[in-house]
Amino acid sequence: MAKAQRAPGARWGTSPVSDKAREVLFIVARARNGVIGRDGKLPWSISEDLKRFKHLTMGKPMVMGRKTFDSLPGVLPGRRHIVLTRQAGWTSEGAQVAAGLDEALALIGDEDFAVIGGAQIFALMADYGTRFELTHVHDDTPGDTTLPAPDASWREVSRDAHDGTDAHPAFDFVSYERVAT
Ligand SMILES: NC(=O)c1ccc[n+]([C@@H]2O[C@H](COP(=O)([O-])OP(=O)(O)OC[C@H]3O[C@@H](n4cnc5c(N)ncnc54)[C@H](OP(=O)(O)O)[C@@H]3O)[C@@H](O)[C@H]2O)c1
Repeated sequence: MAKAQRAPGARWGTSPVSDKAREVLFIVARARNGVIGRDGKLPWSISEDLKRFKHLTMGKPMVMGRKTFDSLPGVLPGRRHIVLTRQAGWTSEGAQVAAGLDEALALIGDEDFAVIGGAQIFALMADYGTRFELTHVHDDTPGDTTLPAPDASWREVSRDAHDGTDAHPAFDFVSYERVAT
């Protein structure tokens, strides 16, 4: 399962390396213009999205970049937090630290796992995903962190539309499965 690291790039992998024996879930909320983050945080607060995130990730190891870990309100119960950082000696209570992709994969072991971002870690692990749960936010949102839309290596399998409110724009929960390319 070991795999060379790659630089972040604006594309999804085209050759899934998953062993098919397990599910690797990518989960992200993304605006119409590609924005996923602003000033180290989520640009929106959509309570249904946060509930769905909890439901989909509960019990799974979650792989994330250090910046995404820092953006969390705290350690989320019921899930291992595997945090990628290049900072030697970086620690935080509740975080299992990985200096690179191979270390992260070794910490996960053989379990299903979730990749929760941010953009750098989705790029690093682009080839690994088998399932993609996207919250498509119908808005051109200002921000500083963007992610490419799912490409032809992903097939949409369901879409569930939700109206906007005074607090947030309309959004769709969109599920994708990985297709061989
Ligand atoms: N909308 C969503 O669903 C969603 C989801 C997740 C995150 N976000 C947002 O996205 C933003 C953060 O995303 P981001 O792309 O800037 O950062 P990120 O991917 O969360 O974290 C980047 C950090 O990960 C570490 N890292 C990256 N590649 C590595 C590698 N190959 N080996 C070891 N460590 C590595 C580095 O940490 P060090 O600097 O410590 O070395 C790097 O600075 C925030 O605004 C966050 O709120 C949004």
